[in-house]
Amino acid sequence: MSTADSPNDLMERIVALCKRRGFIFPSSEIYGGFNGFFDYGPLGAELKKNIRDCWWNDMVRRRDDIVGLESSIIMHPKVWEASGHVAGFTDPLVDCKVSKQRYRADQLFYAAVRIKGKIPDTVIQSLLSSKRISEQLAQELRTADGSTPQIVGYVSALENEKTVEELNAGAKNYQRKHSIQGELALISNEASEETKLKMIGQGENWAPSTGATEFLMGKPKDMTEAKPEEIPFIPSPATGEPGSLTAPRSFNMMFQTNVGAMTDGSSVAYLRPETAQGMFVDFKNVVDTGRVKLPFGIAQIGKSFRNEITPRNFIFRSREFEQMEMEYFIHEDADWAKCHQEWIAWCQAWLLSIGLPESHLSLHAHPKEKLAFYSKGTVDIMFKYPFGVQELWGIAARGNYDLTQHATASGKPMEYFDEATKKKFVPHVIEPAVGVDRILLAALCAAYAEEDVKDDKGNVEKRTVLRFSPRLAPIKIAVLPLMKNKPEIVDVAEKLYRKLKRKWNVFYDESGAIGRRYRRQDEIGTPWCVTIDFETIEKDGSFTLRERDTMQQRRIMEPELFQLLEEHVY
Ligand code: GAP
Repeated sequence: MSTADSPNDLMERIVALCKRRGFIFPSSEIYGGFNGFFDYGPLGAELKKNIRDCWWNDMVRRRDDIVGLESSIIMHPKVWEASGHVAGFTDPLVDCKVSKQRYRADQLFYAAVRIKGKIPDTVIQSLLSSKRISEQLAQELRTADGSTPQIVGYVSALENEKTVEELNAGAKNYQRKHSIQGELALISNEASEETKLKMIGQGENWAPSTGATEFLMGKPKDMTEAKPEEIPFIPSPATGEPGSLTAPRSFNMMFQTNVGAMTDGSSVAYLRPETAQGMFVDFKNVVDTGRVKLPFGIAQIGKSFRNEITPRNFIFRSREFEQMEMEYFIHEDADWAKCHQEWIAWCQAWLLSIGLPESHLSLHAHPKEKLAFYSKGTVDIMFKYPFGVQELWGIAARGNYDLTQHATASGKPMEYFDEATKKKFVPHVIEPAVGVDRILLAALCAAYAEEDVKDDKGNVEKRTVLRFSPRLAPIKIAVLPLMKNKPEIVDVAEKLYRKLKRKWNVFYDESGAIGRRYRRQDEIGTPWCVTIDFETIEKDGSFTLRERDTMQQRRIMEPELFQLLEEHVY
């Protein structure tokens, strides 16, 4: 990945390449786009299909213990009541009443501006009349002796890699704008060990211990942590002014629709927000028909829909996306922790097999106190995207919660009969759930590189290359006749192209200088180019094989070419 400039620039260049070369377009672009929705162009559709196919082949076809399913997107609304989505699939939402912008409360950060020093009455009065502080804070400022930092207002910033820097810059600006003399406390996510020694902790905020004046800190909080009395004084990121943000409220992320001719409450249905529930609801059908024995899994790939408050980071968080989920059912007495670990390892190995670099992967275990009551543990595989380390794949141990919920709500037992013990029980489940679009974005970001290379004449030029694994590359090989006006060359090239095309996605290109044609393939991630030249027709029938990553060329005969593809594209 290019590291020459900022993550934003890098993302912008990746987004531009996706548009330019037909990977991804904004949805409904001719109407100005539609936030949170995307279209996959000819190359994007291939790339996406390759991700799905690799997953399906490795997860379902190459294993004996997993079967596939394709359940409907719109299911009985009672499914979503039983699963808890109607009541609880919510995000905390904050509105700005002036700009009409909406924010996820847990992504909108604020911090108190704290200043050490006696604040004159005129300044306090000015802060009060411009509604920057409450009467209570004004009173505290009037009586404070100025020896400890006091709150003189608030700043806010949206969550990103530089939230803390933005809050600090905002605080400095605030101090200047309101002409407040004194020492400004730094806002920081954490105090360094050295600093901590000089601090006395006051809840989440750090205040200086006696004698230590050089480090004065406050920790940023998100809006879910804001006290009601603070909210009127926190500025909206849209306007920079306080007074327009609402208190956080729960916002259900399921898209609603109506089924049938009536559009009243009785016809409400939901676009599924996850594919998982289809597999729980069909559990009995699969057990009764699929000749499966515990432990076994049901896997499904399909679209999911979430009315995300803040879709962002290109296709990372969108409103329509595709999931690849698997429910692995285990005996109620099985060692779930061992099985969980095995699935984490399987998912990591699979990501490596499609070419994601190990250096970009890490694990994040959800803290116990943040887990749902039924959950035994969740570990996310994280990926280092240009905009930060973010969740790629969640692997959850969900106990027998979902099957039990559906058994209770539907009145249909969801038990498994164990032949060995002649006992019935509700199996437990391990659920690895990943988004196709998130894998695609990770693959794009990891593959993208810009490098200086020399052309035939020794001049240095920039080459943009997508180093996709051959498994994922949208085009596996480009067939290039050296000259388009030499019928003998073109004839061999076309024959080879047709032959390769029976099995793989192959591209035929006869226009432009050969070097330029190589560059075009580099930019879309084609791992190999094969050139049919004079040696092919005049000598032994061999072709020039040019490798994308090394740019090395060598002669290759047709059987070896097919062998190469068989070996790397599976
Ligand atoms: N059944 C469990 C479930 O759906 P999740 O963590 O909400 O769990 C699983 O979603 C995966 O789906 C995530 O790890 C992510 O890869 C993908 N995903 C979730 N929301 C997404 C969104 N808005 N846009 C793109 N991918 C998303």
